[in-house]
Amino acid sequence: MGNEHLFRNPGVGVTVRGVSKSYRVAAGDVHALRESSWEVRKGEAVAIMGPSGCGKTTLLNLLGGVDRPTSGTILVDGQDLTAMNERALELHRLRRVGFVFQFFNLIPSVTAFENIELPMVMAGMPEAECHDRARRLLGLVGLEAKGQKRPEELSGGEQQRVGVALALANDPALILADEPTGNLDSVNATAIATLLRSLSTAHGKTVIMVSHDPKTVEVFPTVYSMRDGLFVTNETSVTRPPSRPAGSAARSWTSS
Ligand SMILES: Nc1ncnc2c1ncn2[C@@H]1O[C@H](COP(=O)(O)OP(=O)(O)OP(=O)(O)O)[C@@H](O)[C@H]1O
Ligand SMILES: [Mg+2]
Repeated sequence: MGNEHLFRNPGVGVTVRGVSKSYRVAAGDVHALRESSWEVRKGEAVAIMGPSGCGKTTLLNLLGGVDRPTSGTILVDGQDLTAMNERALELHRLRRVGFVFQFFNLIPSVTAFENIELPMVMAGMPEAECHDRARRLLGLVGLEAKGQKRPEELSGGEQQRVGVALALANDPALILADEPTGNLDSVNATAIATLLRSLSTAHGKTVIMVSHDPKTVEVFPTVYSMRDGLFVTNETSVTRPPSRPAGSAARSWTSS
């Protein structure tokens, strides 16, 4: 069976309109996002760079439905996350979003194969289908021979491949990767970024990757810069038309 059966859900468009997020702390309010506006098209792969504290993780948490903005609107596939009740937001998180983290987030006591199977088991997928998908997801990330290894028996790069396969288990439309290469050497970092990017080009997924590393984001066709809770259009913002997938046009920034 080919990958057309592995992934049925196409990517989704994401629109962020005038979104602010403030955290109340003892010293006052922290403004993590300040009326940010931004757009990612269906099936696009974009990277976000920016200094520590500029709001990157906050943004991904809002897009993933882990948290809610203080004000503004977030549309995913045309649906307003800010208007959803808790149950709808939970379904968004579980069914539409795949998270990839810096620290792999694998369960240490079970095999790579079982790690990948777990979200499918939890989603109530029949056992045979879980096995079949886990096997093919391992193949997709190039680890078909290492499914029976536990995380500690795998290299960092291999563990993150498992992390990507795990994120893809329930066929999410939107992949959110928060510094997925932060713990890897440059060769593995480029390999993981290339793998993430391929989810857009080969499978039509929408992929948003946060990274600190200019070399890693080079793999992505569009790179946005954030600063102080906003998308910025200054000299650090780069678009890379030459490596865009066929049929998509170069595009300028959306920023408030
Ligand atoms: N739960 C929270 N409570 C209070 N302040 C928070 C909370 N989460 C984030 N912040 C603050 O919001 C701002 C943005 O944080 P965020 O984690 O989004 O930054 P980041 O760009 O991901 O940084 P890094 O590159 O270090 O991961 C920071 O000033 C941070 O201290
Ligand atoms: Mg962060």
